[in-house]
Amino acid sequence: MTEDYGLRTEDYLWWRDGVIYQIYPRSFADSNGDGIGDLPGIIARLDHLSELGVDAVWLSPVYPSPMYDFGYDVSDYCDIDPVFGTLADFDRLVQQAHQRGLRIIMDLVLNHSSHQHPWFVESRTSRDNPRRDWYIWRDGAAGGKLPNNWQSVFGGPAWEWDERTQQYYLHSFLKEQPDLNWRNPAVREALFDVVRFWLERGVDGFRLDVFNLYFKDALFRDNPPRPGLRGYDRQWHVYDKDQPEMHPLLRQLRALLDRYPERMAVGETFSDHPIEMAAAYYGENNDELHLAFNFHFTQQPWRARAFHDAIAQWEAALRPGAWPCYVLSNHDVVRHASRYAAGLHTDARAQVAAALLLTLRGTPFLYYGEEIAMRQGQIPRAEIQDPVGKRYWPFHKGRDGCRTPMPWDDSPNAGFSVNPPWLRVNPDYRERNVAAQRQDPNSVFHWYRRLIALRKTSPALRRGAYRPLIRRPVHALAYLRATSEQTLLVALNFSSRPVLAVLDEPLPARDWHVLLSTADRPELELLGNSLALAPYEACVLGMV
Ligand code: GLC
Ligand code: CA
Repeated sequence: MTEDYGLRTEDYLWWRDGVIYQIYPRSFADSNGDGIGDLPGIIARLDHLSELGVDAVWLSPVYPSPMYDFGYDVSDYCDIDPVFGTLADFDRLVQQAHQRGLRIIMDLVLNHSSHQHPWFVESRTSRDNPRRDWYIWRDGAAGGKLPNNWQSVFGGPAWEWDERTQQYYLHSFLKEQPDLNWRNPAVREALFDVVRFWLERGVDGFRLDVFNLYFKDALFRDNPPRPGLRGYDRQWHVYDKDQPEMHPLLRQLRALLDRYPERMAVGETFSDHPIEMAAAYYGENNDELHLAFNFHFTQQPWRARAFHDAIAQWEAALRPGAWPCYVLSNHDVVRHASRYAAGLHTDARAQVAAALLLTLRGTPFLYYGEEIAMRQGQIPRAEIQDPVGKRYWPFHKGRDGCRTPMPWDDSPNAGFSVNPPWLRVNPDYRERNVAAQRQDPNSVFHWYRRLIALRKTSPALRRGAYRPLIRRPVHALAYLRATSEQTLLVALNFSSRPVLAVLDEPLPARDWHVLLSTADRPELELLGNSLALAPYEACVLGMV
């Protein structure tokens, strides 16, 4: 048992009360000098995660893969790619993480496999191969046309012609990522076996990659056009995702997870559907996903009102008993420190953003590096690795910029590797790195650490109701988090100037004290209904 466990109450449930940290394994820590992060590298850095205080690690895929989509194209669901290590390394990771009270979440990529997966290799050998129907094969339409108008998320039609068997197969992403046929019971069984395999190895949870694409319309109807937009967005995705069959499947998966103690699943609800769609995947009786991502926070401009509205929408969309979750950055979007960059104020904004993420009602997901306000990397065209960047440069530079190596210290290659890494390190690594921030008590890193520690020890922050105190915020957000035992007030100034945030309701003036603030101040200044906040101040106050 670690020290942290001592802080936890009886009913502390890691995925609901804790903080989850996403690692992109290629970029976290390289143990053997090949320039690519690996499992032994992660094990060697577990102390960093304990010090930060997170409860769980979600690993982006580490399965064997030809890496066309850097692991999101799996060629064996029950092993580890040699570039990342071995199954024995994985077992060691689980064991050492558990010893520190850290849980492990695997990324399950079950909408599609790699085209090199033996199932697909067999499937494409002949039309009567027993595995033919494990993938989605169709004849072309009359006149040499594609089977229908479905599009690949990564560009172009979702259908690839197979010369040998004279049919098309479906790929929602790259042509090297053929979609599995979830309507085939044998496929379901095989994929549930995969889930069981990792559960038995002691994995605590799963992140389900694009799960809402598993089922497609049984009649393969054309999607209706969506005028005015380009690429994948030029259609309404009525028939190639979010089919009703997904709900019973999730209930089945949940039943499997429930056979093991404290296991969880978080789903990547993909694409631009309304937030209600993400909410629906918790299930009518909260018997489907434990958590479903909505990505509205990754799309908000730097405005108090925008975040207020996004929270209100998510709170309203969820059924009673469904538990929210929030995320600002991940391996697919521009890092939020850079999205919200404001010259010298960038770190101050990152601290406000951190305070928001870590004081809301819902599980916070952090992305490696955000605890030091890591910036988006700039990768020159010749060094682009991401297939999306290769295809769409310069309109979309791809996702490499949010996947650059973790800067651990100011040594060559940022302490990530003894050799040049697979993506160049950020140019600011000599100043912005973990070692430097550990030494500076005012760093973003220590701010995250203090917020996480406060969240863990505070029933109101973990579980309390969320009540906004400013309905139409302009510069600042203020809200209460309250349980019957504790009430906390959170105030966040999104502007570079001091503001008087006017609350919709009066608060008892004398009884507040500052638990945490980015401004160095002993007391809250409450003037009538107004809170006086310093520029970019983020503070959490408790009642005496
Ligand atoms: C998800 C992943 C993304 C990947 C895609 C295809 O959106 O987050 O990184 O490219 O699925 O698997
Ligand atoms: Ca390595």
